[in-house]
Amino acid sequence: MLLSDPTPLIAVPVIPVVTIERVADAVPLARALLAGGLSVVEVTLRTPAALDAVRAILAEVPDVIVGVGTVLRPLDVTHAVDAGADFLVSPGTPEGLAQALADAPVPALPGCATVSEALALAAFGFPVLKFFPAGPSGGVPWLKAVAEPLPDIRFCPTGGVNGDNAAAYLALRNVLAVGGSWVAPAQAIAAGDFAGITARARVAAALRR
Ligand code: 3PG
Repeated sequence: MLLSDPTPLIAVPVIPVVTIERVADAVPLARALLAGGLSVVEVTLRTPAALDAVRAILAEVPDVIVGVGTVLRPLDVTHAVDAGADFLVSPGTPEGLAQALADAPVPALPGCATVSEALALAAFGFPVLKFFPAGPSGGVPWLKAVAEPLPDIRFCPTGGVNGDNAAAYLALRNVLAVGGSWVAPAQAIAAGDFAGITARARVAAALRR
């Protein structure tokens, strides 16, 4: 679905990107993020546990909006939608994947890293794009530089965004939200440090756009 109403993204300034190795961590992780004020999460499809983790969060923590990230091919769209994903995120978006995301019954945030890719996705009808990997691809200066030539496209930068630079990204008028793993890094999830995750979520949730 084209993200004409980017509801999942405007709920919070920061979308935690999480990689879950053990399904048992999914619900405490989602609760920890919610306790810190972050009600949107992107669960990456990078582990065998990912889709079961999505199902567990949707069943047990209904106040959290669950996106599925690292969607690489049309079959991932099918699996994510079957698991109940509220929205879909891709790191990059070849044409076949763009079509599958547009045809999906939930909103999508397709990834791009160049002006040409952004234009192709905008022509497809996607008004909000993931800018990935934001840091290596040009970061804040890139987003500033494209604001005038691409006035109708807004971005969710992800990849190299962290607690030190998130505010600089969020200050840009073409940035709707930022994403990143710094709020709930894999080591913190593995260590069961849910209090630390809540503390970082609280700081992230307080950032202003
Ligand atoms: C993503 O998929 O968006 C990234 O892996 C998150 O990047 P980060 O780990 O640099 O925050």
